[in-house]
Amino acid sequence: MADRTTTIPVIIDCDTGVDDALALLFAVRHPALDLRAVTCVAGNTDVDGVVRNTLKVLERAGAPEIPVARGAERPLIEPARSARHVHGRDGMGDIGLPAPTRSPVDVDAVTLLRREILASPRPVTLIPTAPLTNIALLLRTHPEVTRNIERIVFMGGAVATGNATPVAEFNVWHDPEAAAILLTAGVPITMYGLDVFTRVLVPGAEVRRLRASVEPGARLAGELLAHRPSAPDSDGDDPAGGLGDAGAVCAVADPAGITTRPLPVEVSLAPGPTRGQTVVDRRPRPGESEIHHGVREQALVDVALDVDVERYVKLYLETVAPERPGAE
Ligand code: BDR
Ligand code: CA
Repeated sequence: MADRTTTIPVIIDCDTGVDDALALLFAVRHPALDLRAVTCVAGNTDVDGVVRNTLKVLERAGAPEIPVARGAERPLIEPARSARHVHGRDGMGDIGLPAPTRSPVDVDAVTLLRREILASPRPVTLIPTAPLTNIALLLRTHPEVTRNIERIVFMGGAVATGNATPVAEFNVWHDPEAAAILLTAGVPITMYGLDVFTRVLVPGAEVRRLRASVEPGARLAGELLAHRPSAPDSDGDDPAGGLGDAGAVCAVADPAGITTRPLPVEVSLAPGPTRGQTVVDRRPRPGESEIHHGVREQALVDVALDVDVERYVKLYLETVAPERPGAE
């Protein structure tokens, strides 16, 4: 049981999701994190699938009874558009975990978020690893929650290249209006975007070791990582596996592993090819637009521009699958 006087209270809002599952495993097992609730939103798969996947992962990880709530079944404006081609038919790699015996709580995600945030003795760090629909609904329905939010570290957006479109990252693209609401929440925000997200890869040999583990949570991590292959590894045939969303949780447990800069970030809401793009202003000085039209007030976001890959891979492995004598 986490010591609630020294740990960081966190809530994960997710669309589990292969890499959301990796994130949950890490959060449950890191001694400095106190995972107080998990809320689910449509994204990688439909929201009921997300709830099921989340419960399965918590069960397999041997987590204590953490409340899990069902949230929005579609974005604020657009229809839901899953990423099953990446995450499998069940949204979590089709790795065949048994149906969960746990159930979600009987309140919706926004209600659970409000309750847990306001009840926390210390300000909560929110970690959205999914489209931001639940978070936007929370901020609009219960704005008072910001008084007990330490910061929001979200996986989403990109300074450079997108994935859902050439310029837009999936979580922001899925619900751009919700992302725009998040960015103006009035609390410190860290953007763990694709620029760092795609770089944190667990070497193939480690994926192999995890898959062979007799410890159920470590084995699950191996199976999930094997579903997230990157280019073949230099040490053999096994491809490395991306930590994805789990990197954002590493950034909460170990903020020194990323390099951030406070920068203005705006979400493109216009229809067309830029919709869902996070426009990050890295210019050293104002341009003609500001000179002619004046500077617009914009909140700054701590944007992750670099990540210490080895440090986060080590942190993840030591947390989720510490070497135990006779564990393989
Ligand atoms: C994000 O989209 C989802 O497919 C992943 O779970 C991650 O949160 C990456 O763009
Ligand atoms: Ca996700």
